[in-house]
Amino acid sequence: MQSALTTSSLVAVVGAGAMGAGIAQIAAAAGHPVKLYDTHPEAVDKALAGIRKTFGMLAEKGRMTQDEADAASQRLQKANALEQLADARLVVEAIVENLDVKRQLFGELEKVVANDCILATNTSSISVTALAAKLALPGRLVGMHFFNPVPLMALVEVISGLATNVEVAGCIFATAAAWGKSPVHAASTPGFIVNRVARPYYGEALRLINEKAATPATIDAIMREAGGFRMGPFELMDLIGHDVNFAVTQSVFTAYYNDPRFTPSLVQQELVNAGFLGRKSGRGFYRYDDGSKPVPETIADVPKTDRVTVVGQSHAIDGIAGRAMSAGASVQRVDGSSGADAFIQCGDAVLCLSDGRTATQRAAEEGIANLVLVDLALDYTNASRLAVTAAAQCDDHAFRMAVGFLQMAGYAVSRIVDVPGMAVMRTVAMLANEAADAVNQGVCDAAGADIAMRKGVNYPQGPLAWADGIGLGYVRRVLNNLARTYGEDRYRVSPLIQQLVWSNTIT
Ligand code: NAI
Repeated sequence: MQSALTTSSLVAVVGAGAMGAGIAQIAAAAGHPVKLYDTHPEAVDKALAGIRKTFGMLAEKGRMTQDEADAASQRLQKANALEQLADARLVVEAIVENLDVKRQLFGELEKVVANDCILATNTSSISVTALAAKLALPGRLVGMHFFNPVPLMALVEVISGLATNVEVAGCIFATAAAWGKSPVHAASTPGFIVNRVARPYYGEALRLINEKAATPATIDAIMREAGGFRMGPFELMDLIGHDVNFAVTQSVFTAYYNDPRFTPSLVQQELVNAGFLGRKSGRGFYRYDDGSKPVPETIADVPKTDRVTVVGQSHAIDGIAGRAMSAGASVQRVDGSSGADAFIQCGDAVLCLSDGRTATQRAAEEGIANLVLVDLALDYTNASRLAVTAAAQCDDHAFRMAVGFLQMAGYAVSRIVDVPGMAVMRTVAMLANEAADAVNQGVCDAAGADIAMRKGVNYPQGPLAWADGIGLGYVRRVLNNLARTYGEDRYRVSPLIQQLVWSNTIT
């Protein structure tokens, strides 16, 4: 493995905005002398004052000693001109997101720094290959993509363009690790890893709202309390800002030549049109200007169903049944098919895990009128909420028996409209599908994809490890059922998932 830059190496940061200040802070904290430059000198003064204050606060909280804080503060210097960066071993660029402006800066930097100085860009959307193209030494340019806020977010995507030297990417990987970050290698492709693989988290949620599956507050609660995500998709989009989130989706969609996987949502377009940009404008999916608090829809308590029969085995069914037994339910076990075909007979109702079909379609195809589907949960033993849906053919009494069983097991139960793949299941299947395609196309390896999503956007589990847990065959079934229902290429199964399922199948 390539070694990291030594701490005696001067690190220069160009651009003293939110990202540049954060990068300068962590480089200085890691022991490097750091020079910060910005075309607006007052931005450097503001950033340096802010970083020094932060070091002081960290010392007060005991996260670093006062001596360490003082030393780190002293390692930071203001540069008044690019020429003052001549001794840098690494320059990290965090200026305005514009290809021509960044290219010009790197051209000027090449005239100033030594030939072995690494040039890194923090761009979130511009091709690293294109940024390097006009350089005399294009092999020295690499992407070093931090996440906001830099001191708190562990992920660094180390992006190689077509010309990037392997040693340069290796050194930046090792340096990011030495700075306490979790680096992953990625090839320069639109959205890199996180901004590409995360698209379905927003995209599927926006489709659910478009199909009136449930209220935003209900879907957010399901994604948090069943899916284990830190924030639901709607509150997260409100936080990011719909203008920003919509622009990223549009840019990825355009960059992939209108691949339907990334199709932007008219629902979000309308929010942008209205100026309902989220928290920053006082209104997005939620209102922030009237003190109202979003409340998820939860089915009121129904009579408990405390005797059921479990037929077959699956992770979901076993998890739910185990919890019900702990709560005192009598659960009779009968042999039967495992996986997707396992079910719980709750009185007249048959309760199964969603497999991407609507309950109504599955009821018709399997000849079970009183069919109730339950959504995926990250961990059925600890989830506080589950989503359910019922076939159009299901009678109300049967539905209430299924709900009575889930309530007995201690779940808050939210009913959503009978959409294919429900909420968590279709989202996780699509996240895994996108991650699998990124791996299949050589953007990153499987471990890198999972680290990126856990460390860059705080997912509770990497999408590929999650898909392995569900079973890749099951994920393929969900995607195929979504594709069949919608008739859209959006849900086509990644060739990697196909290949892995086939390779595990002996015929
Ligand atoms: P910002 O607008 O807060 O700061 C940019 C700074 O660069 C400003 O102080 C500006 O005066 C300075 N600047 C502009 N042109 C310059 C030039 N030619 N030479 C020297 N200084 C120049 O921007 P922010 O948010 O810090 O973003 C910087 C870069 O990081 C962009 O490429 C952005 O896409 C990327 N990025 C941003 C993230 C975010 O969440 N804000 C996350 C990851 C990457």
